[in-house]
Amino acid sequence: MNDSIDWNNLGFQYMKTDYNVRCYYRDGKWGEIEISSSDQISLHMASTCLHYGQEAFEGLKAFRGKDGKIRVFRMDENAKRLQKTSEGIMMAKLPIEKFCEAVKKVVKLNERFVPPYESGCSLYIRPLLIGCSPRVGVGPSTEYLFLIFVTPCGPYFKDGFKATPVCVIRQFDRAAPLGTGTYKVGGNYAASLVAGDLGHTMGYSAVLYLDAKQKKYIDECGPANFFGIKGNTYVTPKSSSILPSITNKSLQQLAKDMGMQVEQRPILEEELAEFSEAGECGTAAVVSPISKVDDYDLIDPNKEHPFVPGDFKCNKTYEYCKDGKPGPVCTAFYNKLRAIQYGDEPDTHGWVTVID
Ligand code: PLP
Ligand code: COI
Repeated sequence: MNDSIDWNNLGFQYMKTDYNVRCYYRDGKWGEIEISSSDQISLHMASTCLHYGQEAFEGLKAFRGKDGKIRVFRMDENAKRLQKTSEGIMMAKLPIEKFCEAVKKVVKLNERFVPPYESGCSLYIRPLLIGCSPRVGVGPSTEYLFLIFVTPCGPYFKDGFKATPVCVIRQFDRAAPLGTGTYKVGGNYAASLVAGDLGHTMGYSAVLYLDAKQKKYIDECGPANFFGIKGNTYVTPKSSSILPSITNKSLQQLAKDMGMQVEQRPILEEELAEFSEAGECGTAAVVSPISKVDDYDLIDPNKEHPFVPGDFKCNKTYEYCKDGKPGPVCTAFYNKLRAIQYGDEPDTHGWVTVID
């Protein structure tokens, strides 16, 4: 265990650890997994990742249990999603086994950075895949670098499990219906920076995006999927522009286990008024209850970007958690998911890999 870290005050930010792992794709094949203690990489200045966005990443976590064992959550799902992303932007596909071997290796090598059980924190695992051969004409790379670094992390939203407000800002889209929204590529996050910054300045934890084409349906929250609770039903958007969240997939299973119905379908914005609870879910966000959704539009429809908060008016508010507390279903999901991840409850779905 690393004694110099204040485990109880970890945020969600980069901290250097002992090692990262790397694997190169050259001459049409993947090489061996290499271990590095440097957090720098050397790149050709004409690399396709720098010019044409051939960049994909993943995010998963390792947890230290009460029994001292380290568990990684659903890494095979992240491996599969990276393959889908690779197909989506024409990158070499990393075999699932290689991905899992690299995750196990990097976690083991950095064991002393996995936060203690009592802290409620975890080790965030960040795989990255980039095109690194030089090209000036637009086209895919012939060489790729896959790497994974890890960093101990606390909650993504500052105060942990707490209900926070989100906003709809109609002047921004995150991803196009037939674009790259279903892939975990850096460009989607670049596209969300301005709206995210504006949302934060206006006091919201995240921006809730509507579908880009019709601006009628719920897509997802900045770094997380959306879900709503209606009676005994878990409702989550079906959309061609959102990331298929592994946390969401897990919550759908947990909802069924709890005897709830699950519906994955388009959700009209007005339906927000019919949910008893709403939440965001993701690896970083875990389960984050939404206290309210404020829907903003421009006061002057002719105003052009750059926007400032004073350019907007809130037309509609959907409120949850009127007492300020997370609702019972969000709380049950949060507790159940974390109990499985930390090994407090049996892993009945085979989601967890113990690192030994
Ligand atoms: N949506 C976006 C845009 C994300 O960045 C993430 C985070 O990975 C998620 C959803 C949640 O996905 P997951 O549960 O697989 O972490
Ligand atoms: C994650 O939940 O792993 C994410 O990737 C969200 C964000 C930090 C980009």
